Amino acid sequence: MKNNLPDLMLSPLAGYTDAGFRKLAKMYGCGITVTEMVSAKALLYKNPNTKVLLFNDESGFKAAQLFGSEASVFAEVVKFDCLAPFDAIDINMGCPQRKIISNGEGCALMEDLSRAAKIIRSVKNNTDKLVSVKFRKGYINKNSAAEFAKMCADNGADYITVHGRTSSQQFSGKADYAAIASAVKAVNIPVFANGDVIDRNSYLKIKDETGCFGVAVGRGAIGKPYIFCELLNKDYNFDILEAVKLHINTLLKIYADHIVANDIKKHIVNYVKGMRNNKELINFIMQKKDTLSILNELKNFLNKKSNTSQDI
Ligand SMILES: Cc1cc2nc3c(=O)[nH]c(=O)nc-3n(C[C@H](O)[C@H](O)[C@H](O)COP(=O)(O)O)c2cc1C
Repeated sequence: MKNNLPDLMLSPLAGYTDAGFRKLAKMYGCGITVTEMVSAKALLYKNPNTKVLLFNDESGFKAAQLFGSEASVFAEVVKFDCLAPFDAIDINMGCPQRKIISNGEGCALMEDLSRAAKIIRSVKNNTDKLVSVKFRKGYINKNSAAEFAKMCADNGADYITVHGRTSSQQFSGKADYAAIASAVKAVNIPVFANGDVIDRNSYLKIKDETGCFGVAVGRGAIGKPYIFCELLNKDYNFDILEAVKLHINTLLKIYADHIVANDIKKHIVNYVKGMRNNKELINFIMQKKDTLSILNELKNFLNKKSNTSQDI
């Protein structure tokens, strides 16, 4: 914790880290949550699908992540009421998807320092919230992490998150912790190191090798919102059924039942990964269109499982 900034973050994962999942992560020791990436332009045009991504139902420090390429758009939207509940605005300068890059958004901004700087300043000048930037080791195959980190700090970023892969790597290969360490050395603001943290050992390794202030965990949290307790060496109790219920009830505050039913399936698949006879459950829930039948089937599956283990 530095100036009330927690040091453990759930990295944004579009399609996974919705309001329900973020709430679970917070219950298990995560300090900072970040919304899935939200288009600043879509927000400006009041797209209702976009606004719903900013719904939150959790306590503690939370950031809203925006992506875009026009400083003037950022300057407008950061004043919107829908961002009022957030403690920080996180600017996405790391997304490697072609449709994002081709619009000059996401990681493309790592190649356009003056535009990136203008965006950061426009956010900083129009909000009292903390401003952060999430970026990568570099664009295509470059390593410009240190230079980019410095640019962020010089233009008002309060903290940054560095994913140690280039945009060409997307999510493959290993994260380069030396590149993250170079960013840490280049600035005096808190740096969150990101890439390949899946357990306590990898958590200690990224901290040790980068000298970072904090750590951001992405895919390691999928199916494991309790990973933060593991990283902190804290005891915990994780009940799949209770977690799924809480997740569903959170999402039902904003979405219709059939949408929540569809969304929760991937989380259940991840929770029961590696469990015996999970295929039958997965096949069943994939056909279901309502949350009640999904919950009932999950309950039966887990009951059978606990009876079987008692028999042994
Ligand atoms: C399915 C998926 C969705 C992602 N969505 C976002 C996003 O919306 N915004 C963002 O900044 N990064 C996004 N990322 C990148 C992650 O936040 C993180 O930087 C990356 O996965 C590396 O961390 P990890 O090795 O801990 O997973 C996404 C990654 C994945 C796999």
